[in-house]
Amino acid sequence: MKTLVLCNQKGGVGKSAVATLLAHHLAQRGRRVLAIDLDHQGNLSKPLRLSGRASASAATADALLTGAPLPLPDQPFVLVPGDRALLGLERQPALHTPFARHFRTFLASVDADFDVCVIDTNPNPDIRVIAALASADFVLSPIQLNQEAMDGVSGLLNHERVGLRKIKAVLNPKLALIGLLPTMVEPTPFQKANYLQVVQQYHPLMIRIGDGPGDFASIPRRSCIAEAQADGVVLWEMKKTAARDAWREIEPSLTRIAAIVTGAVPEARRAEASDAAAA
Ligand SMILES: Nc1ncnc2c1ncn2[C@@H]1O[C@H](COP(=O)(O)OP(=O)(O)O)[C@@H](O)[C@H]1O
Ligand SMILES: [Mg+2]
Repeated sequence: MKTLVLCNQKGGVGKSAVATLLAHHLAQRGRRVLAIDLDHQGNLSKPLRLSGRASASAATADALLTGAPLPLPDQPFVLVPGDRALLGLERQPALHTPFARHFRTFLASVDADFDVCVIDTNPNPDIRVIAALASADFVLSPIQLNQEAMDGVSGLLNHERVGLRKIKAVLNPKLALIGLLPTMVEPTPFQKANYLQVVQQYHPLMIRIGDGPGDFASIPRRSCIAEAQADGVVLWEMKKTAARDAWREIEPSLTRIAAIVTGAVPEARRAEASDAAAA
């Protein structure tokens, strides 16, 4: 099993939407998918439950950290939903080390049962995010193309508690940054200028989907993506031309990310590049 964490210390950048799309995409491609929602807001849990595709575990994701028993349904697509109890974990600092250890032990215990584990996280840099990053193989960071979000990229790499450099150095040397994924991209002059700036400043951290100069993974802003999230329908199954068009636009990006996570594309070169950029 390969584990991917969606991570950005900002809310509303599209983490849960990307996690949902990826989980469905991988499941549809025949991968056994374990989706874990570490955000008490449940924005991955809701659409996956409503879709009827994933089987939810009876226990919620806080059990993965507290070490409570968590039997999973014997199904190829399983959701461990988020719950408000996740909020209490940060307030028990004496237990943070066992929390992270329980989470790692759990992932190891289901290693043979799933091909990919997709973890959605909360924006605040707390023990949930640390536990996820400390045990994951990959991290993907959805970002929005505004100044604030771009300033946040440096936090993603250098934050004193959850920055990737710190996590890699202290807790998890195998963690690889797949890259930055611009989301809710709009064709405005402002966003185009910001996009160029991100590419210029962080191109080793962008996810290549082709050989052309601007061929990087990104997700456009499309109302049908928000609708798919709200109604729990699978985007590419919506009976609307707009949804089919949106899917055509994002498929190369999701396919590329899925290929990296499942090992179809060697990650080594990219990991080196992201280390260089983080330095
Ligand atoms: N590509 C997109 N186009 C349009 N709306 C989107 C897109 N991605 C996310 N949204 C919507 O934006 C809001 C925030 O997205 P969400 O994925 O919940 O962000 P986060 O998990 O980072 O807080 C949600 O209402 C979601 O449906
Ligand atoms: Mg979210």
